Amino acid sequence: MTRNLLVTSALPYANGDIHLGHLVETIQTDIWVRFQKLRGHQCVYLCADDTHGTPIMISAKKQNRTPDEMVAEIGQRHVADFERYGIGFDCYYSTNSPENKALSEAIYLKAVSAGAIEQREISQMFCPNDAMFLPDRLIRGICPRCRAEDQYGDSCEKCSATYSPSELMESRCAECGATPISKNSVHHFFKLSQYTDQIEAWVRGGHVQSEVANKLNEWFESGLKDWDISRDAPYFGFKIPGTDDKYFYVWLDAPIGYIATTQKWAADAGMEWAPYWTDPAVEIHHFIGKDILYFHTLFWPALLMVGGYQLPKAVHVHGFLTVNGEKMSKSRGTFINASEFAESFNPEYLRYYFASKLSSGIDDIDLNFEDFVFKVNAEVVNKIVNIASRLGAIVNKSCGGTLSTPDAVGVTLLAEIEGAAERIAILYEALETHKATREIMALADKANQYIDTQAPWAAAKTDPDHARQICTTGLNALRLLAIYLKPIVPQLIAGVEGFLGIAPLTWEDLTTRMTDHPIQPYTHLAQRVDMAAVKVFLAGR
Ligand code: MSP
Ligand code: ZN
Repeated sequence: MTRNLLVTSALPYANGDIHLGHLVETIQTDIWVRFQKLRGHQCVYLCADDTHGTPIMISAKKQNRTPDEMVAEIGQRHVADFERYGIGFDCYYSTNSPENKALSEAIYLKAVSAGAIEQREISQMFCPNDAMFLPDRLIRGICPRCRAEDQYGDSCEKCSATYSPSELMESRCAECGATPISKNSVHHFFKLSQYTDQIEAWVRGGHVQSEVANKLNEWFESGLKDWDISRDAPYFGFKIPGTDDKYFYVWLDAPIGYIATTQKWAADAGMEWAPYWTDPAVEIHHFIGKDILYFHTLFWPALLMVGGYQLPKAVHVHGFLTVNGEKMSKSRGTFINASEFAESFNPEYLRYYFASKLSSGIDDIDLNFEDFVFKVNAEVVNKIVNIASRLGAIVNKSCGGTLSTPDAVGVTLLAEIEGAAERIAILYEALETHKATREIMALADKANQYIDTQAPWAAAKTDPDHARQICTTGLNALRLLAIYLKPIVPQLIAGVEGFLGIAPLTWEDLTTRMTDHPIQPYTHLAQRVDMAAVKVFLAGR
């Protein structure tokens, strides 16, 4: 049965470049999407830039530009970065769009009608010099617990204490240094607790990993708090209907951007958007990092319920990227942008490396550069590319460039590789990508053992027909392995398809074989990674 899937990665903030942490997520999502498409399912992969909020407004001001100009330029950079890594979005849009504005207003007005919005006066830190309310991150001061200096308004990086900004000592505005004052203003709150039972039922319905459900249970136990969805001017965002100076908090319109992007994609593709968000035959899958779990599993389902939309089939949560065992940090040189990395290394090698580490769990994953070099060379180059280069040379030199039929041992080998299809499919589906790569590499080992034992280079001298049969088996094995690897390294596999002279592979091709088939001359498919290049890359940081 063909499935109908709508898949998203979280929308990156438009105030910085795409880095390797973002790529953990988009590569994980893209592999899953490519796998679904390879299997013949309908699958739409959407993402967008998350453009609103105070930090973006402030960056634009510092660059002497309007936020609209800045987010437009950053949006283009993000698209270019993702393209280099082969992330195959069907549409990459922006939350700063007319569709998103209309949807955000409509959902808000429905929430008002449902009695889910309450207005309340609260007191907040305000910078008299900048004439703006300060988000916690824009207040610095001395930690009330450990007295560490220069800590944020909400938490201390030294002692991990959390507190309210008014408790911070000697607080000042992070932008201008002025001393903030407390000021009252009316905020709009979304009464999340009104939806507790429904959200809890959804969580118990198996739509999140069990470790995530456990985390959520802690929150349910302590009771869901009202959610402050408004921010006062000046703010870069959508104005709340019926107000002059209040805007939707960025986290209200950001996830609604998933629906707005569906509308944009559907309009461009000549499709209907609404069934994606209302027809239970469609499965919605969100991929996110563990830091934004609260928004996607509590607020977002509530907004969808209010809007009259269906809830996600699954929210898939992944862990954080560390580099050589450390948190990504600018000062340690372990904060790596996507574009810098792509200048020194083949982006597909990062895809392969992340695939070999990714699982369905929420543990952090480490980019260890030594391991990266080792895995890419030992697996992608030695086990896969080498089959093509070794056998391509023999077929073209001694067998007239054409295959025949596999020998008897070869038929068994190919059946064994094909026989792993369901196991591998189950692993891809379950996001146990590291296990899928292990399984595929074990099959590649068998193919290489076969080639080593049969020694077609020796047979080519004495019995060219037999050599041709061995190469036919070996290259058919390569073709089957290529199907399995296609979601992970699509560019490399496009090269293999070109070399074999075959149409783009799909999962169904596992049941067929190339026989009496001409292949192309072998041209280099992939380069080894050099540890020296890694040293140069890391030293230059
Ligand atoms: N704009 C919000 C998401 C809104 S979705 C409606 C946001 N943006 S982000 O740019 O900070 O992060 C985008 C995604 O990348 C998030 O899922 C986040 O968890 C993920 N990652 C950001 N840094 C990461 C790592 N270092 N490691 C793994 N994933 C990381 O949050
Ligand atoms: Zn200030």
